[in-house]
Amino acid sequence: MVRQARCYTRPMFTASALTGSKPDQYAQLLEQARGLVHGEHDRIANAANLAALVYHALPDLNWAGFYFYDGTELVVGPFQGLPACVRIPLDKGVCGAAARTRTTQRVDDVHAFPGHIACDAASRSEVVVPLVRNGTLLGVFDLDSPLPARFDVEDQQGLEAIAQVFLEACP
Ligand code: SME
Repeated sequence: MVRQARCYTRPMFTASALTGSKPDQYAQLLEQARGLVHGEHDRIANAANLAALVYHALPDLNWAGFYFYDGTELVVGPFQGLPACVRIPLDKGVCGAAARTRTTQRVDDVHAFPGHIACDAASRSEVVVPLVRNGTLLGVFDLDSPLPARFDVEDQQGLEAIAQVFLEACP
């Protein structure tokens, strides 16, 4: 009953359209992300809402979501977009590279990336942010676009900041 009361009394979150320069827009998106996870520590709930927020706020995406590391490989988590491959070994794909190297992978042309996994044939560029907390790999935050070179360094920095919001909210 306490949980229900908290759920029903929590104000409805409203995402507003992003305006201004790209850094301005990411600052607004970051505030919205913070508001969305505020007071909530459930990893699945926060991943689901952040995937939905980002997917609907940013133009020209065909997939946005999370893979979680199960100790062996990456397993698909909450996302928006077409159904995706369920498990990705760390030696495969852009996601595996981000997890293995623990560095963001920004790929302008996925067809030129050795081992890229095409979950959606429309994908042309991709950015994958590793989720590492206190030295432990939790998973990756993955975004795909049907446009080549969709993501620049400002997108990378903005998405890394949103990944950090996710990490700070999760115990
Ligand atoms: N393209 C990714 C696989 C995940 S999908 O994009 C959702 C990769 O190469 O790791």
